[in-house]
Amino acid sequence: MHTNQDIIVLIGMMGTGKSTVGAHLAEATGYRLLDLDAMIVQRAGYPIPQLFAEQGEAHFRDLETAVLCEALRMPGSILATGGGAVLRERNCREMLEHGWVVALSASAETIVARVGEDSGRPLLAGGAQARVEALLAERKHAYDFAHLTVDTSGKSPDKVSAEILMHY
Ligand code: S3P
Repeated sequence: MHTNQDIIVLIGMMGTGKSTVGAHLAEATGYRLLDLDAMIVQRAGYPIPQLFAEQGEAHFRDLETAVLCEALRMPGSILATGGGAVLRERNCREMLEHGWVVALSASAETIVARVGEDSGRPLLAGGAQARVEALLAERKHAYDFAHLTVDTSGKSPDKVSAEILMHY
């Protein structure tokens, strides 16, 4: 185990398997699973598409930062973040300070196959394939700060989880 890093933070684009792999990691480690999107929805009182539509993305990002900082103060956690949680530099610094940061990656094809066209993800509205490719290009290096990067394409969540724990 890494000193002072008993929080495993999963980052990566939508559809890279953060929530699913997070559940496997929680099972394997006995840590609690914290899903940042779910915590935001609980805090806001309504679902993410509605949050984006009615309050705007900036408000969503503010909530995301607040909830992230709280979650990072709960040792013994697997923290599955949303794909955009890395967009604020402050968030990345907090993650590196309090957790062991693992980036999950996947090809555009894999991501589209996993999230589909109608995924409740406002940033993919209006055509998943094109939007995924654009976001992947935009965020090309956004996840590079992680301590470890694991490609998830063609791998089961169990395999990804085992690969992560080999390095832990
Ligand atoms: C987002 C990813 C989503 C969710 C929101 C914005 C993003 O989470 O937080 O729709 O900006 O990439 P997932 O990565 O869990 O889909």
